[in-house]
Amino acid sequence: MMFNLQMSSTNMKLLPLACLCLLTRSGTTLADEQSPVIIEVKEDSDVILPCFLSTKENIEYKLFDWKKDGQKEVFLYEAGTHYNNGRPGQDEQFKGRVSHFPDELKYGNASIIIRNTKVTDSGNYTCDFPLLQPRQIFNIQLVVGASPEPSVKILYQTKDWVLLQCEVLGASSKPTVEWQDSAGNKLPAEEPQVSERGGSFYIILQTTVMKTDRYCCVATQEEIRHQIYTEIYVKVNEPPQL
Ligand SMILES: *[C@@H]1O[C@H](CO)[C@@H](O)[C@H](O)[C@H]1NC(C)=O
Repeated sequence: MMFNLQMSSTNMKLLPLACLCLLTRSGTTLADEQSPVIIEVKEDSDVILPCFLSTKENIEYKLFDWKKDGQKEVFLYEAGTHYNNGRPGQDEQFKGRVSHFPDELKYGNASIIIRNTKVTDSGNYTCDFPLLQPRQIFNIQLVVGASPEPSVKILYQTKDWVLLQCEVLGASSKPTVEWQDSAGNKLPAEEPQVSERGGSFYIILQTTVMKTDRYCCVATQEEIRHQIYTEIYVKVNEPPQL
């Protein structure tokens, strides 16, 4: 059985909000760029990448261009034409997943929303107003974390004890993994075996239990404030009560 203990997203949103004030002051020339706003989300969620002019001037008839890693076309708006109404040139990766906020344009707000984020959407985004004087460029760093789903099994069983194994696969940022009993106590376990393949982590954690209980393998990803666990019920032949 799998439970998703996703924590409130309130905290998650505080970071970008706090950084918005910096953002409005930044972005004049490439030379004095501020450090980017960092936004972290979990895979398959939607994310708003913020970008707006501190002057709040109307940009309905202006041009702005969102790019990823300096080259991929994410979203280009030019005086009413854009990738969702026939304009060609958008990168395949973003087709059908990105929109702007038409009602916000008159307040200088060029934010976009990316739906159904994938780990491969992680990267550095720029929101560029190339024709403004002075030119305005804003930087946003997006981190999309894969949801690590622990899989658990009984590896070995004797009369008195059971060896449990938990595997967490494909987490883009390294999760912490632990075994707990049904009361939530952390169980002593072997050192986790961690390997890394192409930016993803593969973690194996084993523990030996000697009591009948419901055990739980918990994977926590601090960076994206995400926790997920999988349970397993274990029956151990306890000595008969005399
Ligand atoms: C820009 O628009 C987005 C989407 O409606 C909104 O979430 C954000 O708060 C707006 N930013 C500002 C500075 O108004």
